[in-house]
Amino acid sequence: MKRIKAIYPGSFDPPTNGHLDLIQRGSQIFDELVVAILGNPEKEPLFSVPDRRKMLEAMTADFDNVTVDTFGGLTVDYATKIEAGAILRGIRAISDYEYELQMALMNRKLQPGLETVFMMPAEKYSYLSSRLVREIAQYGGAIDCLVPPLVAQKLREKLDIAHKFADNTAVLGDEESTTERKTKSRKKKS
Ligand code: PNS
Repeated sequence: MKRIKAIYPGSFDPPTNGHLDLIQRGSQIFDELVVAILGNPEKEPLFSVPDRRKMLEAMTADFDNVTVDTFGGLTVDYATKIEAGAILRGIRAISDYEYELQMALMNRKLQPGLETVFMMPAEKYSYLSSRLVREIAQYGGAIDCLVPPLVAQKLREKLDIAHKFADNTAVLGDEESTTERKTKSRKKKS
């Protein structure tokens, strides 16, 4: 019988419970699943590729048929290189569909033998995204129900460092907000 290897490509910055849900579903229908982290030079990521890889490896340690890898360039070229026959992508809501359809059809144009398979994560993750997790964590919101414990810890560590750096900058007086400047200038005039 034909064995099917699939890749699950993405940015995973950071990986969320929604990603984990999809990995678990994918691991049940594919013989092998490679979670492929794109090192995208156009985006400024919160986590480095090695950090994301460590988090995903820890999250997927219990799945025997799941491995984690990194890639650059085109997804179809990476899939061809590792002899994968399918691309797994998640669709959370209709809003994802247009972009995902465009990408799937373009990937099919580039590499006709490679199928994209869409799966839906559990409804409770339908509003979850890495971008929202980053934003919530940045402003100190609760992230524990959105990401695995290890990722929550890494987010706190990362943002603590960023906040300390920001505090120091403020103490050193390098930054003066527009509002502060305007208030001072108004006081001088009055
Ligand atoms: O998690 P993301 O950011 O939605 O993942 C998007 C990803 C990595 C799947 C997509 O940007 C991608 O495939 N990038 C690699 C470059 C590529 O193949 N571009 C053409 C896509 S049709």
